Amino acid sequence: MNPRTVNRRSLCRTILSGAICGMVGRSAWAEQEEQTLDVTAGSEWLTGSGLRLYLSAYAGQVPGPVIRAKPGDHIKINFTNLLPNVTNLHFHGLHIPSTGNADNSLLDVPRGGSLAYEFDIPKNHRGGTFWYHPHRHGYTARQLSQGLAGAFLVRGVLDEIPEIAGAPEELLVLQDPIVNSQGAPIEVGLVDQMQGREGDLILVSGRQNPVIRIQRNGWLRLRIVNASPSRFYRLQIDEHILYQIASDGGALPAVQEMDEILLSPGERAEVMVRGSREPTEFRILNLPYDRGRLSMIGTSSARSVSETIGLLKYDGNAESEWDLPQTLTTVEPLAEPVIRRRFELGEGFARFTIDGRTFDSRRSDTTVGMNSLEEWEFYNPTGMDHPMHIHTNAFQVVGADGLSIPAWKDVVLVKALSCVRVRLRFDDYAGPTLYHCHILDHEDMGMMGRLDILPK
Ligand code: C2O
Ligand code: CU
Ligand code: CU
Repeated sequence: MNPRTVNRRSLCRTILSGAICGMVGRSAWAEQEEQTLDVTAGSEWLTGSGLRLYLSAYAGQVPGPVIRAKPGDHIKINFTNLLPNVTNLHFHGLHIPSTGNADNSLLDVPRGGSLAYEFDIPKNHRGGTFWYHPHRHGYTARQLSQGLAGAFLVRGVLDEIPEIAGAPEELLVLQDPIVNSQGAPIEVGLVDQMQGREGDLILVSGRQNPVIRIQRNGWLRLRIVNASPSRFYRLQIDEHILYQIASDGGALPAVQEMDEILLSPGERAEVMVRGSREPTEFRILNLPYDRGRLSMIGTSSARSVSETIGLLKYDGNAESEWDLPQTLTTVEPLAEPVIRRRFELGEGFARFTIDGRTFDSRRSDTTVGMNSLEEWEFYNPTGMDHPMHIHTNAFQVVGADGLSIPAWKDVVLVKALSCVRVRLRFDDYAGPTLYHCHILDHEDMGMMGRLDILPK
């Protein structure tokens, strides 16, 4: 077994079952149009990269199996819940129905129960790095923290650009389980929940401090998913520029050169890294970030030290050298809508609100018309950051100049004492769907609303 394979293995049931254990890299896109997967969620002891942890896993793996699909594919997931509590599945970022047995976060899969999820990826779906995770209100943060999350990749324009598709690819699913020194999960107290739980152990696709290999003068494509319930990642690689090519909802119009990338919970980015330095090792860092404080308790969530979460290691030389194209795709900016809404975020004791109310699945909070275009403002008068997420339809953020930034997002960071506007159109699907803070403890404590999209 070559060392590269060992490095690429995520946590799984036993070392010997490596073949099914979250292998990443340049695995081919499945050619079939129909994909049927059997996924069981359960809690078990997992081993890998020197760790032994009791986590909750999809198909015995943390992170869960990578699902790779193409527009037009039909996906069926035979899901079984062997967790101690109720759960369900949400397909974060996918533009598919939020009703029936598709991306319906209001469904319950009780302990011991099963459900067949089934949907088509629309033929015009954007490519990108999406993900799946539990979404049962009241249990989401804990289940995610204990390991339940997996990447869902949809093939798209970037995979047709030879300068990008020709590079090796690494998937970095960032998780931070909360475990004791034996590797068993610990339940966190109410203040930690209000703050948004963060674990001390950072897993990068199931590995602690993994070595990510890059060829000298070659390119590496990183697909990064913040699958932690509350932790923000401010990522940097020593002495390397991050060439961002995609955000949550797929390709950016042009390559963005970044020194660092901030990912709040639920956000994704795809970046290219060039092996342009002396062939040694460089740290992959998570820089300090202060996401504010609870007004009534006053404890700060500031992290004041940089954490090394992996190493970029030079290994071999690229056979050929190339530059990235400057333009990647076209993203039409959304026009200024007539309909505007404002949502005010709020905080109380063990209670997080939107417009003063906590979530109730039986209550409709916002009603819109299918195919209509709206501008939503999230106003955050609290002392803490709240990354806001909308299901089913991606949005464009409105910049300081009042124009829409041409990039598709589904999570937007609304910093403490600030407001952010987004534009979105409710395309294709009617029915109830959700919007919420992606600090999942806040979502569990009420910071979520039900959006009803009415057919025209
Ligand atoms: Cu990633 Cu409603 O969530
Ligand atoms: Cu989502
Ligand atoms: Cu929040």
